[in-house]
Amino acid sequence: MAFPTHRPRRLRQDGRVRLMMRETWLAPQHLILPLFVSEEVTAPNPIRSMPGHCQWPVSQIDRPVKEAMEAGVVAFLLFGLPARKDPRGEAAHATDGVVQKALRRLRQECPGAYLITDVCLCAYTDHGHCGLLDETGRVLNDESLPVLAEMALSHVRAGADMVAPSDMMDGRIGSLRRRLDESGFSQTPIMAYSAKYASSLYGPFREAAHSAPQAGDRKGYQMDPANAREALHELRLDAEEGADVLMVKPGLAYLDIVAEARAAFSCPIAVYQVSGEYAMIKAAAEKGWLDERAVALETLLAMRRAGADWILTYFATAAARWLRETA
Ligand code: PBG
Ligand code: ZN
Repeated sequence: MAFPTHRPRRLRQDGRVRLMMRETWLAPQHLILPLFVSEEVTAPNPIRSMPGHCQWPVSQIDRPVKEAMEAGVVAFLLFGLPARKDPRGEAAHATDGVVQKALRRLRQECPGAYLITDVCLCAYTDHGHCGLLDETGRVLNDESLPVLAEMALSHVRAGADMVAPSDMMDGRIGSLRRRLDESGFSQTPIMAYSAKYASSLYGPFREAAHSAPQAGDRKGYQMDPANAREALHELRLDAEEGADVLMVKPGLAYLDIVAEARAAFSCPIAVYQVSGEYAMIKAAAEKGWLDERAVALETLLAMRRAGADWILTYFATAAARWLRETA
């Protein structure tokens, strides 16, 4: 009894009714722009595999922030590249660390910006792992927690509005929450990289952040791309430990996880369109094989449709501009 009684095309006939039929919206306030701030450069240093993105010196970190804010982007995620690395990632929680300095500058220069920091040791340790190592090269869990908590606290003291731990150690959300609470920062939210997969799509990022592991891989702490039930387990544990926002990462290949997370939790869900996803679209567009703007906006919209409230994306500034032009 379907056709000819039912004809879905009746509601697709022209732009007016198509607009009325739209179920999902993408707006600049949904987008979070990741930025790399480096102590090793004195001028913006373009990242080869991420066209349009640079490592920024602290002295100029306000430039990409102001540019994004003019396009309507409100929120930023800061990654630091320290001048010196050591086994314990000491620079990660230094008062005059690179992210801490960037935060103080941005608080002055861009008071309207919502500043989120990535909390993880991989860019600060000489071995490049996200936690501390034992003598045999294994990543220590419980021993890493106080260092991560100290890093988060020093970011908040320097002006971070929110912290986003991406290390995937067990118990880190609870550990950060307690450290922030007992230090007078019970109002600072935590966005947990909860379902973070051991993905091959982080390649360009590791070049941008100088954070590739020197030996081994991250499969001992990041999740197996084959697993979905395990993601719900991770998300639930982080929610129970006090995460305010739950994140799924990467994006496009993991939208089933986003949809499950949306259905299972009432807190905000974030998704990270990672460096490899950005690089793929950029590269195909450079070759003239894809329409960059159309594909970027389509993938971001798909992430919203799957249930994401917020999207971390290297397209944030460009997408915000495109959305304004279309509106
Ligand atoms: C650090 C971190 C990574 C990303 C965000 N935080 C890399 C990794 O886990 O190796 C990836 C972001 C991207 O690829 O855009 N833990
Ligand atoms: Zn890391």
